[in-house]
Amino acid sequence: MNIRKLPKIELHLHLEGAAPPNFIRQLAFEKNIDLTQIFNANGDYCFSNFNEFLATYEAACQVLKEPEDFHRLTRSILEKSAENGVIYTEVFISPDFCGGGDLTAWKEYLAAIEEAANSAKEDLGIEMRGIVTCIRHNGPSIAKKASICAAETASNFVIGFGMGGDELVGTQGDFTYSFNMADEAGLGLTTHAGEWGGAESVRQALQDLRVTRLGHGIQIIDDTNLIREAIDKKITLEVCPGSNVSLGIFENLSMHPINSLLKSGLLVTVSTDDPPFFNTTMTSEYNNLRDVFDWDEDIFKLINQNAIHAAFCGEEQKLILLERINSAWTKT
Ligand code: ADE
Ligand code: ZN
Repeated sequence: MNIRKLPKIELHLHLEGAAPPNFIRQLAFEKNIDLTQIFNANGDYCFSNFNEFLATYEAACQVLKEPEDFHRLTRSILEKSAENGVIYTEVFISPDFCGGGDLTAWKEYLAAIEEAANSAKEDLGIEMRGIVTCIRHNGPSIAKKASICAAETASNFVIGFGMGGDELVGTQGDFTYSFNMADEAGLGLTTHAGEWGGAESVRQALQDLRVTRLGHGIQIIDDTNLIREAIDKKITLEVCPGSNVSLGIFENLSMHPINSLLKSGLLVTVSTDDPPFFNTTMTSEYNNLRDVFDWDEDIFKLINQNAIHAAFCGEEQKLILLERINSAWTKT
């Protein structure tokens, strides 16, 4: 099977986290900003643990200043996704980086991002949707601004609300106000949970935020009762194996629980998270899963079907995607 060309659905990709180092270096050059400290000798992003990753990430974001920068970034990441066979992608976009949570500014950034998404749909055939994202370590009051931005711009393009950032700061329940507001605006809900915060963080996410999807969610593996609850509630895991290995949660892919999670009956999907940071692509994620766990066309079809069912877009779009996935992922 030619994995690169086969169609894929991605549910967990951070817009800024998908910015290639060259892209960030070029903007830094144009804006006369010194960012040399965030790159290593090979020109890749430099970090050796999660906190350093977050610091490097936020430093890189300093060059993303104007709506036009986000237009260019969106175009660049969608080209890369399309090259790897992605036909539908839900992208985390944070008002914290797009105007600091100011609604008027946010609308301008969002318009630029949506325009780039529309043009990529025209000439690359890739569909993008946005999940407005608050950043946990920035705290609940900044998150409240992000949820106002989300609720005020909910549309066919902005379809979800999520939370990323440092899972060890505060609790999921600190953000109920924002998630309730997004829920009332009709947005789909997801939060990073069980990446660093253990099964307890997953429990809080389900109880306090009533999300239907978990960013990562992998640490649910330590709690059989919670696995049963997540299966009953049809909760979907946005698993990003390359990210987890790169950040040192598992020593290598063979130690990663993704295969056990799938076998337990959980709804598993596969995404890249922040591809240039973790030196990954959707193609390499799939190739590695095939090599290490012997995943075949049937399993890849299943994880893409899971992703479509859990996607926050409308039913009409889902039917189109299902048809493409079902016809392409067949054993030859
Ligand atoms: N933001 C970007 N990538 C992230 C990750 N892996 N965990 C939490 N927040 C993030
Ligand atoms: Zn993430």
